[in-house]
Amino acid sequence: MNEVRLGIVGLGRLGKRHAQNLHYRVPGANLVAACSVVSDELTWAKDELGVNKTYESYDDLLADPEIDAVFLVSTSSVHAQQIKAGLAAGKHVFSEKPMGVTIEECLDVEKVVAAAPDLHFQLGFVRRFDPSLAYAKKKIEEGLIGEPFLVRAQTVDTDEFAEFQIKFVPTSGGIFMDMNSHDIDLARWFIGSEIKSVYAIGGSYVHPGFAEVNDADNTVALCRFEDGKMAVISASRTAFHGHDTHTEITGSKGILKIGMRANKNRVEIFDSVGARVECVQDFYERFQEGFLLEAQSFVKGIQSGEKPAIIAKDGTKATEVGFALTTSFKEKRVVEL
Ligand SMILES: NC(=O)c1ccc[n+]([C@@H]2O[C@H](COP(=O)([O-])OP(=O)(O)OC[C@H]3O[C@@H](n4cnc5c(N)ncnc54)[C@H](O)[C@@H]3O)[C@@H](O)[C@H]2O)c1
Repeated sequence: MNEVRLGIVGLGRLGKRHAQNLHYRVPGANLVAACSVVSDELTWAKDELGVNKTYESYDDLLADPEIDAVFLVSTSSVHAQQIKAGLAAGKHVFSEKPMGVTIEECLDVEKVVAAAPDLHFQLGFVRRFDPSLAYAKKKIEEGLIGEPFLVRAQTVDTDEFAEFQIKFVPTSGGIFMDMNSHDIDLARWFIGSEIKSVYAIGGSYVHPGFAEVNDADNTVALCRFEDGKMAVISASRTAFHGHDTHTEITGSKGILKIGMRANKNRVEIFDSVGARVECVQDFYERFQEGFLLEAQSFVKGIQSGEKPAIIAKDGTKATEVGFALTTSFKEKRVVEL
């Protein structure tokens, strides 16, 4: 099968990880180009991965006929425009979440994706590729827990990133958009219908800086689906023990709990402090297998022509619900979608 020649766009915290996967660990991928507005990142791509074609301008990368696909790991606010331009230039596109930061731009992306049926478009809802969450989905489809009616999903970061995150609230869209988009996607995926109303509460219990920018460091949200089913989605930026992201699905015949303890591995330590396990420390450590599997799936999908399971509408829905949660929190009311 033909190799896929890729250009990565954005080489920040996550982009470097994706670039390493594409260079070292994805069969059939050839990372030939990199684009970033930060010149040090382009030097890193050249020195560390031997990427010879480096571009400061995305348009210049798109004009390169030797690139089959773009892998967008840029700042969230430019995703929608870069997805549309990538498809218009005839490139296959992978984009990190969110698909767009407004509902209008998400709907626009949906149209452009629909108009390019021969191009592969995949969105980075990495948790669907996590082996344990994917296994839970399979078990639900097999009927193991009967009819699922409640999802509880949380994303919890360690406190060390909090002060840094305050600065990014204006561009990240706030705690619900930034931290809960995967939880929203998982709740829709497991329940199999759409969220129709939400009520979100929260506060700045540890870092007053979040309140100053009209955001929170800890939140809880209740979501009602169109068929009356439920989700409880929470977020925290103030944990001390680790990146504690887990999911629980309750059905009419049983419950599935995925990653309820954020264990780093299977080692238990017994010492003067007591009996304990160490925890994963960040999202990448928790979901690294998922990040690799989603990149492999993107390249394989281009080669085989098989359509991706995650579609553009999933991106729009996550943004729509993220907005509703933010509005509910800010206006202290139930929001109907
Ligand atoms: N799937 C996940 O779990 C997950 C986790 C973390 C981040 N993300 C997403 O990944 C994206 C990147 O996050 P990050 O933490 O690496 O951010 P970052 O700020 O560390 O990196 C952003 C990169 O984008 C580049 N960039 C910005 N505008 C650009 C433009 N116009 N053209 C080309 N490059 C441009 C910057 O140079 C930088 O390299 C965000 O959208 C974020 O939401 C997803």
